[in-house]
Amino acid sequence: MKRFIINGGNRIYGETKIQGSKNSVLPILAATVLIRGETVIENCPDISDVDATVKILKYLGCTVKREGHTITVDSTNADKYDIPDELMREMRSSVVFLGAIIGRMGKASLSTPGGCEIGLRPIDLHLDAIQKFGVNIREEFAKIDFETVNKLEGTRIALSFPSVGATENIILTACTAKGTTVITNAAREPEISDLADFLNSCGARISGTGEGTVTVEGVEQLHGVKYKVIPDRIVAATYMAAAAMTHGRIHITGVIPAHIAPVIPVFEEAGCDISIKGSELSLSAPPMLKGIKTVRTMPYPGFPTDMQAQIMAMTTLCHGTSVIIETIFESRYKHVSELLRFGAKIRVDGRMAVIEGIKNLTGASVIASDLRGGAALVLAGLAADGTTTVNETGYINRGYEDMCGVLTSLGCDIKLDEREIKNDSDDKN
Ligand code: EPZ
Repeated sequence: MKRFIINGGNRIYGETKIQGSKNSVLPILAATVLIRGETVIENCPDISDVDATVKILKYLGCTVKREGHTITVDSTNADKYDIPDELMREMRSSVVFLGAIIGRMGKASLSTPGGCEIGLRPIDLHLDAIQKFGVNIREEFAKIDFETVNKLEGTRIALSFPSVGATENIILTACTAKGTTVITNAAREPEISDLADFLNSCGARISGTGEGTVTVEGVEQLHGVKYKVIPDRIVAATYMAAAAMTHGRIHITGVIPAHIAPVIPVFEEAGCDISIKGSELSLSAPPMLKGIKTVRTMPYPGFPTDMQAQIMAMTTLCHGTSVIIETIFESRYKHVSELLRFGAKIRVDGRMAVIEGIKNLTGASVIASDLRGGAALVLAGLAADGTTTVNETGYINRGYEDMCGVLTSLGCDIKLDEREIKNDSDDKN
């Protein structure tokens, strides 16, 4: 078990460039399966979810070359259509390969992705939509087989919820289907527009992403391209929260301001000064943060659920009471019990969390149980008095490239401890 050891209290003061977007690069890498040729993807973050995605591409028969933040995929000889259980379990968002594999191979076989630390994560919306393309689906307990009888036929799909993954899978299935597909109540996240921009540069004909109704005109085939992934809006907002909590100043480069717009009012309500110039953002924090009336997580362009845990960590130090309502995932409060170990005052009632701000957090030994919850614990450690140990940093490495190095460059006292510490019971035997 690897851990971060943090000596809290240093103010963040400095500049950092934001990594490529995890939630953009994963569907874009999956989409390369649709392309019989070579594709070059730039600005890929060096994170373990990308490692897992590359493993799946290689398993499917693609050749993959990684040079720094550039990944070159040649899917000419891709010949497999299944994703083995162990690869699905390594990263449940591998379900986004579904549309690309069906689009390329006409069939697919996946193990059910199953739930994860933040909820059951059903894929019923994906399955109902894909069936409408003329795909036969056979579900067993742990496996799902997909088979197209004839060629995929474009169709109309009204999503009951603007699911990000379902919208992506529908777009990937529709790209090379015969005829037109229209998705209403589609998710509007910037990562979906990035996927569409990538596919359109490969010859696809997708319009309307970011507006709620997406139209895809099927094309015969797609060609390779060189494409640069957008910056990660959640990583940017996470480091903004770190600066806010340590009463510091941060200058972030390589951001797309429109993508960060949903979180800016929350930081301003807390008393932070934010200025934006082109693709650069500066945040300076007040000596005392103010409470946030209510933060309700919503599909984009609402406040992102992926920033809920980090903002909760910030509100533990905001003067007054703050309220958070998590409307997207049914159990995305696992970080609360660990934040309480810092002395935070948080009460959870169903989807609502009420946070009474306190003057100081006290360093603690805590365990990360998911990606964004783990980031929130690091933020609390940066602001806390004394030493904090954040265990299970593997969760954090799924989405943050070299968080330890970035925070050190911003003036934090944080180290990675890779010693395998045997727990006491082992010694007693
Ligand atoms: C994507 O997950 C992101 N992951 C998540 O980021 C993000 O939290 C989420 O979108 C919401 O923005 C990637 O892009 C790889 P959804 P996804 O389908 O596609 C329910 C992170 O920290 N639902 O929009 O799985 C579902 O249970 C990760 O970077 C169904 O009921 O999210 C959830 O309650 C975490 N049936 C809600 O919809 C379905 O078929 C939102 O899920 C699909 C989803």
